[in-house]
Amino acid sequence: MTLMNTTPQLNTPLPGPKAKAIIARDAHVVSPSYTRGYPLVIERGYGAMVEDVDGNVFLDCAAGIAVTATGHSHPDVVNAITEQAQRFLHMSGTDFYYEAQVKLAEDLAAVVPIDGGVRSFFGNSGTEAIEACIKLARYATKRDNLIAFLGGFHGRTLGALSLTASKAIQRRGFGPMMPGVYHAPYADCYRCPLGLKSESCAAECIDYIEDQIFLHLVSPDEVAAIVVEPIQGEGGYVVPPDKFIQRLRELTTTHGILLVADEVQSGMGRSGKMFAIEHTGVRPDMIAIAKGIASGMPLGVAAARADIMTWPPGAHASTFGGNPVSCAAAVATIKLLKARLIANAAEVGAHLMAALKALEGKHPLIGDVRGRGLMIGVELVRDRKTKERATDERDAVVTAAFERGLLLLGAGRNAIRFSPPLVLSKAQADTAARIFDEALTEVEKSRR
Ligand SMILES: Cc1ncc(COP(=O)(O)O)c(C=O)c1O
Repeated sequence: MTLMNTTPQLNTPLPGPKAKAIIARDAHVVSPSYTRGYPLVIERGYGAMVEDVDGNVFLDCAAGIAVTATGHSHPDVVNAITEQAQRFLHMSGTDFYYEAQVKLAEDLAAVVPIDGGVRSFFGNSGTEAIEACIKLARYATKRDNLIAFLGGFHGRTLGALSLTASKAIQRRGFGPMMPGVYHAPYADCYRCPLGLKSESCAAECIDYIEDQIFLHLVSPDEVAAIVVEPIQGEGGYVVPPDKFIQRLRELTTTHGILLVADEVQSGMGRSGKMFAIEHTGVRPDMIAIAKGIASGMPLGVAAARADIMTWPPGAHASTFGGNPVSCAAAVATIKLLKARLIANAAEVGAHLMAALKALEGKHPLIGDVRGRGLMIGVELVRDRKTKERATDERDAVVTAAFERGLLLLGAGRNAIRFSPPLVLSKAQADTAARIFDEALTEVEKSRR
């Protein structure tokens, strides 16, 4: 079977004839708001490999936007889904009980880095997890306001969108946003707004919250929560210094503000730990989880300190949230992550990071390589001194990689993300780095 290959194999020009026909149909009937960077029409997937409808095989370093944590259609996950689907598909955990949801909540309580007891609210997506966090933070603190970060992405429903400050197009035309949201600069050390070096800074960017937001805009005793991605995802795979998150914890504790970690993209083993915030030693009050948790089945979770999640029956619920099939997939996913895949993300992630860093000397387009585990960003620049963003070049590199059989996604204005399934092998990481090298060479040649 071709999908057992660990290297790409292209048999047709891209897109092939079957892919072309499906894309032509899509153009008439599917929302044009989707951002398809290249014409991949998937037929099936296995592990870190994907086959398209024309029989072309790709190495997947996108994982359906950092979702398929255990690889495509992992047999244990498929078995769990099948077994559950054969018994019942839905009963609504909102009004009835089933064991899969309880088991998942127990498993989460054992792994989320929140002090004290932990309770989970179940939705269907990352944005629903964030909505639940926003509502619970307001409910629990009886305060209205929220602070989030520039460059952050938290989802597209209107509450979450009001926190999102990634790309203006995501907000354009949808206002007014939810009131009471303030944005602070994120610790993007490659482009430090204060001109500091991350090794020696004290996360002075946090001062902006105290010296500007609290002074000029909103009193801290009216702020319900600060919502932060421990590693910024859509914003460009930006890793802040640990001090940034640690100072946020101090600040929130001082003022009785809740700290919400949005681990929708960085969680579930991707960073080489179950949650990226564990790298910093900080214990947040709530964690938003989605994407990788159920290996591709829709599921979003707001996990919170039990003494915070005390809202009464009827306060918040979702018909489909935590449906039994997604819960079964998540229980199987967590088992696989704990057994092997978190460790694999750390080990193969370090290997891939070294391979990508080794390309820095050869490719002037590379401005920065950063990340944790299998959450790696490469920022492309036109000039290393001025750090002028190489946005067109980034898009061209992603396309050139696709044409060689490597699936990548952009992040932020000019970064490329490597977010493969956590089953990626070292040999596949080497293949990804080799194809990336070739794609960079092609684009650099064409721009000379
Ligand atoms: C950090 C983060 N939060 C929230 C979301 C929203 O998740 P969803 O698209 O499942 O609503 C995303 C999606 O990319 C994300 O990366």
